[in-house]
Amino acid sequence: MIYKVAIIGYGYWGPKLARNFHNSNNFKIQYIIDNSKKNLSKAKVDIPFCNLLTNYKSVKFNNIDLVVIATPTASHYRICKHLLSFTNVLVEKPLCLNSAQVNELEKIAKKNKKLLFVDYPFIFSGSINYIKKIIINNKYGKLKQIESYREQAPIRNDSDVIWDLGVHDISIFKYLLNSDPKILKSKKYKTLKIKKNDTAYINLEYKKNIKVFIKNSWISPDKIRLLKFKFNDAIIYCDENEPIYKIKIFTPKKELNNLYNLSIPEVDISEPLFNLTEYIAKCLRTKNNYIYKSKFNFCLTKTLEKI
Ligand SMILES: NC(=O)c1ccc[n+]([C@@H]2O[C@H](COP(=O)([O-])OP(=O)(O)OC[C@H]3O[C@@H](n4cnc5c(N)ncnc54)[C@H](O)[C@@H]3O)[C@@H](O)[C@H]2O)c1
Repeated sequence: MIYKVAIIGYGYWGPKLARNFHNSNNFKIQYIIDNSKKNLSKAKVDIPFCNLLTNYKSVKFNNIDLVVIATPTASHYRICKHLLSFTNVLVEKPLCLNSAQVNELEKIAKKNKKLLFVDYPFIFSGSINYIKKIIINNKYGKLKQIESYREQAPIRNDSDVIWDLGVHDISIFKYLLNSDPKILKSKKYKTLKIKKNDTAYINLEYKKNIKVFIKNSWISPDKIRLLKFKFNDAIIYCDENEPIYKIKIFTPKKELNNLYNLSIPEVDISEPLFNLTEYIAKCLRTKNNYIYKSKFNFCLTKTLEKI
């Protein structure tokens, strides 16, 4: 079956979603909707033969299988609430800016028997799933610490750096560790004269005493997306900026001398957004949205709220 999709929001991220749905054999894009005519003219070139509209309320979505919301974060709740009466919805991260709204949307989805997805792209990346297998199989002993450095991104004025970048870390850790953390400490700063905090340093503790440090910052000349996983028997780097060699495994030569052997395993480097489209197609077929079960969105939003 080929599922019909509509995409609302064709700014920075919308075109990337559109490209991946367009490239999937499971989907056909029927509508692209954006209230900017300039952005719609880009969509006309990128995705020919789909309907281009400026107002999502002018469409009855009953015969559309999935609507993708890639508008600014502050508008997600309102648009998603409207759409869940008609169809299944994929919303860009973060779903909403508070957990009460997430709870309400989840309830509406359940009542209307619709599936609600959120684009946390890294949980669909080959490298994060490689790390997940290592944790499950206990391959390098106990996981003791994780550090995340996530720097450089467009400055936003409707959400701060934690809701914008920290959401990636919190979704990755919830997916990998299957638990929610204690917040030990969090400090937020404005480096520039802007509306929202642009930099944050966060210390968390997950079950089994796993200590986590997160640095998020919009302000950086380099784009950094580096996670360091410190196990008993290895330190593993996961660098999503690397095109191919995303995972580096350092195993100590001798205890306490800080010299390591390095191995670089082969990992699935398919685009996470494409993997997300294929996951959604499977869920639409089976009606089983297993990753987002057990209040995944709600618990994750609660953690962001606490931070
Ligand atoms: N998953 C990721 O890694 C990732 C990366 C970047 C952005 N995002 C998320 O995607 C969302 C959009 O971010 P962006 O950087 O693309 O923003 P953007 O401002 O570049 O694009 C938003 C688009 O939505 C359109 N729009 C706004 N209100 C609308 C409405 N009511 N109806 C129709 N169109 C409307 C705007 O004209 C614009 O083209 C944000 O929530 C952001 O957090 C996610």
